Amino acid sequence: MTDKINIGTLISGGGTNLQAIIDACLENSIDANIVFTGSDNPGVKGLERAQKAGIDTFVVDYSNIVKSCKKNGIKDRDLPEDFNLEEILSKQKLFASGASPEQTAFFLQSRAIAEKQLLDKILSYDMDLLVLAGFMRVLTPYFIDRVNTEPKCYKIMNIHPALLPSFPGTDGYGDTFAYGCKIGGCTVHYIDYGEDTGPIIGQKAFEIKDSDTLDDIKKKGLEKEWELYPQCIQQFAESL
Ligand code: GRF
Repeated sequence: MTDKINIGTLISGGGTNLQAIIDACLENSIDANIVFTGSDNPGVKGLERAQKAGIDTFVVDYSNIVKSCKKNGIKDRDLPEDFNLEEILSKQKLFASGASPEQTAFFLQSRAIAEKQLLDKILSYDMDLLVLAGFMRVLTPYFIDRVNTEPKCYKIMNIHPALLPSFPGTDGYGDTFAYGCKIGGCTVHYIDYGEDTGPIIGQKAFEIKDSDTLDDIKKKGLEKEWELYPQCIQQFAESL
């Protein structure tokens, strides 16, 4: 039996993956405790699920932060003291080199303002692993470097609704369906500086029948996600 690891979780919505992880922790089928659930979105069902399980919760309202940055502009004093745009630009792989410099800078700066608020909450916990369970925000190198503090030691895990490297982005099942794939799946991977590009930890696949609708694909996929995520967390716990 491995010692239990402490995991933090971030969500944006319904939290069915979070529920699968809560259940696995309660049933002792994984050697993990959830120490917090954070959301970028107030009032979502996933927060209720966490509270019902007695888990600390918090919200960093990304929409409000980005709205206020758009309305008022971003001044130096709004940015985290340890934010260095040149450094983040040199590391980030979210925007191609031809992207508009103003838009890229605005994105990275406004996200860093939100990420600093996340970090202020997260880093007060003793946490071995950060689990993104349906967290629909891209993380920038500013955030990633402050969680992954040991070289080559990944500490942020994500679940993606497609068989990566196919169909990165926000609508994996939609893209799988639109392409007419006969096999769909989900992937758990570590977070690196790109979008859905980090090392793959585990995958599960399912068959798509010609008669399947997008809703059928989402249902089959989520059922696989609920199995896969706890397994990958356990694999991490056993690797420590
Ligand atoms: C899942 O399909 C996950 O792969 C994707 O968003 C969905 C979240 O579902 N990133 P839930 O909030 O865990 O129910």
